Amino acid sequence: MVLPSAPVQHTSRDTERPYAPDRELFYLSGLAEPDCVAVLVGGSDPRLELFARSRDADAELWSGPRLGLEGVQSVSGAEEVYPIQELASRLPTMLGGADRIHVRLGRSREVDDLVIGALGTARARGPRLGSGPRGVIDPGEILDELRLLKSAHEVETIRNACRITMEGHRAAARALAEGVGEWVVEAALEGAFRAAGAIGPGFASIVGGGENACTLHYVANDATIPEGGLVLIDAGAEYGLYHGDVTRTFPASGRFSGTQRAVYEIVDEARRAAIAAVRPGATIGDVHEASTRVLALGLLDLGVLSGDVDEVVDAGCHREFFPHQTSHWLGLDVHDPGDYQRRGASRMLEAGMVFTVEPGLYFRPESGGEGMGTWSGIGVRIEDDVLVTGDGAEVLTTDLPTAIDEVEGLVGR
Ligand code: GLY
Ligand code: MN
Ligand code: MN
Repeated sequence: MVLPSAPVQHTSRDTERPYAPDRELFYLSGLAEPDCVAVLVGGSDPRLELFARSRDADAELWSGPRLGLEGVQSVSGAEEVYPIQELASRLPTMLGGADRIHVRLGRSREVDDLVIGALGTARARGPRLGSGPRGVIDPGEILDELRLLKSAHEVETIRNACRITMEGHRAAARALAEGVGEWVVEAALEGAFRAAGAIGPGFASIVGGGENACTLHYVANDATIPEGGLVLIDAGAEYGLYHGDVTRTFPASGRFSGTQRAVYEIVDEARRAAIAAVRPGATIGDVHEASTRVLALGLLDLGVLSGDVDEVVDAGCHREFFPHQTSHWLGLDVHDPGDYQRRGASRMLEAGMVFTVEPGLYFRPESGGEGMGTWSGIGVRIEDDVLVTGDGAEVLTTDLPTAIDEVEGLVGR
């Protein structure tokens, strides 16, 4: 398996963006530096070999200290660490001994070229040598499955990310009021993330006031929060390269109106029902079904849909108001890898999996339809992060309340 580091990204000219390390390389080696390539060699003598940057006083003057080859060795525990300049001369020999190469084509031009070269060599000489790579496989085939089950250390790091995420939400709620800019709330949220030791927000924070709460990935955050409006805040801190991902929906005035309260209570009941469905042996599909059913029943109660709940769900009528899934895996990536389905069946939950539970209802003004007038412009999502335990679920974000009176109590204080 060959894992190149992520490239350094630039703005439109020569200014570097904050470095986003390759998650797979980090997962297997602990390395978060650019210009590295990890090579895992399987077979009878399994080992990790690394190509990495040497120390360089000139470069370090500008960009800060590098690990250097010795530092890379001690962080990763690799059997061998070579200067990255030796990649082209050493990698072909390593690849020549493999049956299959796990590599994500398109990640590194140099690695791609060396892999293509090794395949060509194997095609020409393999029959006589009796060895050589004949196929390329995506590393996710192996790594996605490993990453789905979190180690104790990973769970601890996610706990910290969640703790900081909740602190940010409290700071955001404190800054919230009618007539305040969404960007002011965003600044309070992200300032609290940094002050608490996070790398920063793990994804573009969503602060949607009024109707903006109905845009699922609203990130402009450039409007003023309207009088009497709800504010949907969906944000997560990145800590130790792991993520929290939490949504709360607050009333800007500090009091939910009757209609807002009616929608909010349905969404919170859906959240509770989804969490109650989490246990080893249940499926991620069961979790979605539990929340979908509560939301559909709620839409019938509100008079927005009519008919029988099973028919509504089967026909997908609820999707107009709940167009997304209830969950995604959470970890080194906000939307962490791992299959949600296997051979047509929903994925069985196992202890150590971490995912979000995030039901929502969105009444976009353009939706129209019977009985919509009352609810138009209301958007509510409530998102928690959940760890599957030996016999059920642990909600990692339970310290940030969802109950109406407690949520009201956080606004402006
Ligand atoms: N904000 C992205 C998500 O909750 O999945
Ligand atoms: Mn989210
Ligand atoms: Mn999410």
